[in-house]
Amino acid sequence: MSSAFNPAPADRVVGHEDSIWMEFTKLAQTHQAVNLGQGFPDSPAPKFITDILKDISAKPDLTAAHQYTRGYGHPELTNILSKMYSHLYNVNVSPMNDVLITVGAYHALYYAFLGWINPGDEVIIIEPAFDCYSPQVKFAGGIPVPISMTVPEDAFSASQFTIDFKNLEAKISDKTKMLVINNPHNPTGKLFTRQELEKLAEIAEKHNLIVIADEVYEFHVWKKEDMIRFASLRGMYNRTISIGSAGKAFSITGWKLGWAIGPQNLLAPLKAIHQNCVFTCSSPTQLAIAEAFKIDWPKFLKKPKESYLATGLSGELIQKSNKLAHMLAKGGFRPIAPQAGYFMLANYSNHNHNIDMSQETDPADFVFARWLCSEKKLAVIPFSAFYSIQTEKMKNCNFIRLCYFKKDATLTDAKKILKKLGKE
Ligand SMILES: Cc1ncc(COP(=O)(O)O)c(C=O)c1O
Repeated sequence: MSSAFNPAPADRVVGHEDSIWMEFTKLAQTHQAVNLGQGFPDSPAPKFITDILKDISAKPDLTAAHQYTRGYGHPELTNILSKMYSHLYNVNVSPMNDVLITVGAYHALYYAFLGWINPGDEVIIIEPAFDCYSPQVKFAGGIPVPISMTVPEDAFSASQFTIDFKNLEAKISDKTKMLVINNPHNPTGKLFTRQELEKLAEIAEKHNLIVIADEVYEFHVWKKEDMIRFASLRGMYNRTISIGSAGKAFSITGWKLGWAIGPQNLLAPLKAIHQNCVFTCSSPTQLAIAEAFKIDWPKFLKKPKESYLATGLSGELIQKSNKLAHMLAKGGFRPIAPQAGYFMLANYSNHNHNIDMSQETDPADFVFARWLCSEKKLAVIPFSAFYSIQTEKMKNCNFIRLCYFKKDATLTDAKKILKKLGKE
C-alpha cells in the first residue's frame, strides 16, 4: 500500500491566498455578469498593431524573428525604447545597458523586488496599491510597509487622494530600502502632480532609497504633457527602476510584454535573474511592438493628433470614463472622476440598504461587490482589495472600482443595470 503523497510547499507560499482576480473573475463567469471588473479592453485590438504581427508571422523566412533573440531584449525594441525614454526622461538611456524586456510589467516588478530585497529589508508601498506589490515583496523575503493615502469622504476627483508625507517619512527605518510609486495610479485614477513627485524624490534622496516607478499607464493621461515621469526629475534616474507595459500602451494586455528601465547598476540584479529564469521574451511580439513604437513615436512628438499614444488612446478613455461616470450617477452611485488610466472609483453607500451585513465579517465592499455580481449581474472590484492590512481594509470599504475601457455594447449593458438600480 502506498502512503499518501503530501509534500510540504516552500515556506514562502504557505498561507498565500488567492488574489482578488481569482475570486472575482470566477464570480463574473459563474453569473455571466457584465464585466467592469478586470482591467482590460474587451473591444478589438488596434488594427495597426495586429497587422504588424500578421506581417511578421506571414514571413517564415524572416528566420531571426521566430527564434530566440538577445536575452535582455530584442535590439529593435530596446533601441526604440531608449530613444523614447531618453527624450521623456531627458537622460541618455542606453539601449544595450539600461533596458530589460520582460513578460509584462508584473514580471519586471518581481525581478526588481527579487533582485534588490534581502530578507528583512523594508519596502514602502503607498496604498491603495496594485495588489501584487506586497506579495511580491514577501516572496523576496522583504517586509512591505504600507502607508495609506487620505481622501475626503465626499471626494469627487481622484486628485483628492493625497499622501501625508510626514506620515510616510515616519515609516522609514534603517531597514527601508525601497519606495514603490505607481503613477498614474491604479485603482484611484490619480495622476500625481510635479509637486507631489518632487516631495517623494526629496524623501528618496534623503533616505537613500531605490524607487520603483510603476508607470504602466503613462500614455493613459488626458493630456500627454501632464504625465511627469519620476525618472525625469532631477537626480532621480540614478535611483529609479521605471516599469512599463506594451500591453497597456497599445491596449493588447494579452501580449504580456513589459520592460524595466534604469541605469546599468540598478538593472544588473534583474538581468542576473532574467538570464537564468526566462532568458528571453517572445521575438515576434518584441519586433511587432518595436515597429508599433517606431510608427507612433514620431507622431507622438510632431503630430500628436495622429498618434495613438498621444491622443488616440486618451480620446477613447476620456469618452468612456465620462460615459461611465454619468451612468453611475444615474444609478445612485457617487463616482470619483479619474485623471488617467483604466479605472474609476464609485461610492456605493446609497445602495447599502440592499444588503444584510449582520452576519458578515468581510469588508462591506466585498459583500456589496459579490451581491452586485450575483444579484444584478454587474462585476466590479471591491476597493479594499487594494489595501494589505485588515484594519485599513475595514476603514476603506466605501468604494467599488470599475474599469471603463470597455466596448460600447458592454457599457450599454452596464447602463441598463445601473439605471434599474437607480430606481430601486
Ligand atoms: C499598476 C499596474 N502595474 C502593473 C500591471 C501589470 O501589467 P502587465 O499586464 O504588463 O504585466 C498592471 C496591470 O493591471 C497594473 O495595473
